[in-house]
Amino acid sequence: MAKGKKDKLRVAFIGAGGIAGAHMRYYKEMEDVEMVAASDVMAASVQSRCEEYEIPEAYTDYKKMLKQVKPDAVSVCTPNGLHAPCTVAALNAGAHVMVEKPLAMNANEGQKMLDAAKKNRKKLVIGFQHRYEPRTQFIKKAVDNGDLGKIIYGRVQALRRRGIPNWGVFGRKDLQGGGPLIDIGVHVLETTHYVMGSPKPVAASGSIYTYLGNKKSNVVSMWPNWDHKSYTVEDLAVGQIRFENGATINIEASFAAHIAKEEWNFTLMGEKGGATWDPPGLFTDANDHMVSVKPDWLPTGAAADAFSRKMRNFVDHVHHGKETMAPGEHGLMVQKMLDGIYESAAKGREVRIK
Ligand SMILES: NC(=O)c1ccc[n+]([C@@H]2O[C@H](COP(=O)([O-])OP(=O)(O)OC[C@H]3O[C@@H](n4cnc5c(N)ncnc54)[C@H](O)[C@@H]3O)[C@@H](O)[C@H]2O)c1
Repeated sequence: MAKGKKDKLRVAFIGAGGIAGAHMRYYKEMEDVEMVAASDVMAASVQSRCEEYEIPEAYTDYKKMLKQVKPDAVSVCTPNGLHAPCTVAALNAGAHVMVEKPLAMNANEGQKMLDAAKKNRKKLVIGFQHRYEPRTQFIKKAVDNGDLGKIIYGRVQALRRRGIPNWGVFGRKDLQGGGPLIDIGVHVLETTHYVMGSPKPVAASGSIYTYLGNKKSNVVSMWPNWDHKSYTVEDLAVGQIRFENGATINIEASFAAHIAKEEWNFTLMGEKGGATWDPPGLFTDANDHMVSVKPDWLPTGAAADAFSRKMRNFVDHVHHGKETMAPGEHGLMVQKMLDGIYESAAKGREVRIK
């Protein structure tokens, strides 16, 4: 039976750039969602998105949109520096929010977002999609079953050989909070942290280096001609996070690492077994021998689409009362780790995470 309009979740957008387009594509497929409005400071962008996805109202002022449209839920898809003000405004306007990763520029802002959700009794979800991947769930289940014993170490790698974004504001520290660590390292870090059971981070140390993005380059690459003049973020971040339960994570994230092969992977080492994400596999002992376990089949195609699952889970959470797999609190814990690494890099010593 076709659902009536009143049964639909009325969704609006703040930011109508690249990732907003992905949100729109998935919402459009959902029978229980109605996209009611979108806002972007770039009038032409929001207009063309609205035409593409048949969204009736385009705004250049998100505050006006929130006031006039009163959406049930908002996708916040702006550069990182606007995640906090836009999310708080949407929550105060009575909407649930899915905010894109990372949660914010820093944990102080993130805490304000969580406080606003609590105060308004609305739900705040962080747009972490990799936890929804079938291979992530395969490993998560093994960890939760205790197959790997206590996880004592996670190695996180998000390394591009030459992949400095040549669009948007990804090289601007003032608008993004940082470079590859907060932009791509965050993806593999959140997934690893989630699989490890979301332990509480207590200390961080790290170093960051800028040596390439701030210079003009003629090297042939995937995304040439980035804006090197406004590039104020790191090219490479390395760090270590210690957790209350004694576990450790090491992370490496780079837009431009001189390496043979790009890496997008995590490795877990536990007391009884280990795991890798790519390719997905478990390493343990059985029958007095060391054995490897790999899934012989994982869902592929649309059924495996992590982004689709993330969007579906958000709607199920705010509209149908199901649990979310990515609460704002998880975004805040990850943010504290990112902050800790940046703070340690600035201070040249390990820092405590509160
Ligand atoms: N989950 C993922 O895999 C994923 C992938 C890409 C980007 N992201 C995240 O999504 C966010 C946006 O990234 P993007 O790639 O879409 O960038 P983008 O540059 O394509 O889009 C950002 C949009 O925000 C708009 N904007 C700026 N100020 C605004 C304001 N005050 N009000 C309304 N709109 C405003 C810009 O004009 C732009 O159109 C970032 O936080 C990024 O980290 C997530």
